Amino acid sequence: MNKFYITTPIYYVNDKPHIGHAYTTILADVLARYHKAEGEEVFFLTGLDEHGQKVFQAAEKRGLSPQDHCDDLAPRFLQLWNNLGIQYNDFIRTTQLRHIAVVRKVLRQVYDAGDIYADEYEGWYSVSEERFITETEKESGAFRDVKKLKERNWFFRMSKYQQRLMDYIGSHPEFLQPEHRKNEVLGFLRQPLGDLCISRPKSRMSWGIELPFDKEYVTYVWFDALLNYITSPGYNADDASFKKWWPASIHLIGKDILTTHAVYWTTMLFAMGLPLPKTIFAHGWWLTGETKMSKSLGNSINPLDLIDKYGIDSVRYYLMSEMVLGQDANFTMESFVKRYNSDLANDFGNLLNRVGGLIGKYFDGRVPEEGTATKAEKEIQTYAIQLEDRIKQLVETLYIHEAIDATLTLVRRVNKYMEVQAPWAVAKTDLVRAGSILYTATEALRMVAVFLAPVMPSKTKEVLEILGAVGTNVLWGGLKSGTQLKPHAALFPRLELV
Ligand code: MSP
Repeated sequence: MNKFYITTPIYYVNDKPHIGHAYTTILADVLARYHKAEGEEVFFLTGLDEHGQKVFQAAEKRGLSPQDHCDDLAPRFLQLWNNLGIQYNDFIRTTQLRHIAVVRKVLRQVYDAGDIYADEYEGWYSVSEERFITETEKESGAFRDVKKLKERNWFFRMSKYQQRLMDYIGSHPEFLQPEHRKNEVLGFLRQPLGDLCISRPKSRMSWGIELPFDKEYVTYVWFDALLNYITSPGYNADDASFKKWWPASIHLIGKDILTTHAVYWTTMLFAMGLPLPKTIFAHGWWLTGETKMSKSLGNSINPLDLIDKYGIDSVRYYLMSEMVLGQDANFTMESFVKRYNSDLANDFGNLLNRVGGLIGKYFDGRVPEEGTATKAEKEIQTYAIQLEDRIKQLVETLYIHEAIDATLTLVRRVNKYMEVQAPWAVAKTDLVRAGSILYTATEALRMVAVFLAPVMPSKTKEVLEILGAVGTNVLWGGLKSGTQLKPHAALFPRLELV
């Protein structure tokens, strides 16, 4: 059986989750569900990044110890994931003992291999980014809270792996995606790569995992956090499971954390002698207006409020269909309402109402016989049957919005087909033919529900329940003639922009 191991970034516990966090997690969930539907064995990991300065400061502000702060906020993330219908397999927290043990083990291993050394370093330090930055980075003006810092620290010999990383990227076209992000990393690697400072003196910041070879220091939060991807499948704890799941099929990340994954993480894996993940995919940002959503800007959208108001599935649908993977997208209530009304209320919801109403009126609510297909029925059938392969290919290459669009095209074609065939008129003279049209439209609708199930698990389940077709698959003919349709309210009532 094919295996699929997918991860999200582990989120900093410095704030309540916002739509940006929800987006990556929903995307991972949708991909996981598509792969499951294709019969693959799936492992889906998400979690929390609980160490480091950001979390420490957030806890301080609330007058809590960092651990109490994390313990208090972790359930909010879990609640959000449950509300969003996220079917994760593991939820890792970097303060868990299983993770601390892995971090210490890896540090020891890399230290013993000679790839970690101590040095005095003086340079520009960005407090907000929590790392030393180069002169060029400082001059770019992109970093806030920059100060000169001189400190003895521990360093990872990242520079040693620069050429190997460049060669690897060159010979593995699927490794860094999308293409423009790969070029960004290659551009970055054209400059000499420095070594990575992987420690923080406790005297300055004590919230982290103590280095196994120096009690005065804790581990730099990224060196700690990245290792979550191997802790979860069982590195150094469960060899069989680790062997089964590592390397990951895909690390989904936002473009803001590309360097840490494409450079820090990969060189760390080289040093550990482990294979690299198959793909690292960096998606764009959700913006409000032209700016990135963030707490400091006070413009973040609380996903829970949206769900309360409009339902989980419409939020999932919007996020998945609106963002072209790899590019930025604008989150506005106008575009949310517009997409909901056009795709879900008008196209999808309306088709269900139409076929349900007509089958109710002319066939006592029982699915009619399929009858003999004419050219028009065959066209619908052919599109629906070919859609399976098309979606599979689009999902594998992460064109989710196109997979959704291809599915909605089927809905639109069927709506058009209904208008042209006008079964309400045909029913007056030829009930058998009217039944054939309605069967075709309803069967296509059933297939649409199956195709969209990973994106809208609950609404599509409702549709399948109404059609008496729960558990059916993407083969044409899953709808059984004679089945009594269940009465239902409008699936996606139209929204007005208030
Ligand atoms: N803790 C690190 C990641 C460690 S992974 C080993 C971190 N956490 S974070 O809380 O800041 O979340 C970062 C991720 O959240 C981004 O990479 C992205 O996936 C997601 N997003 C946060 N804001 C976002 C938007 N406005 N739009 C889209 N996604 C964004 O960095």
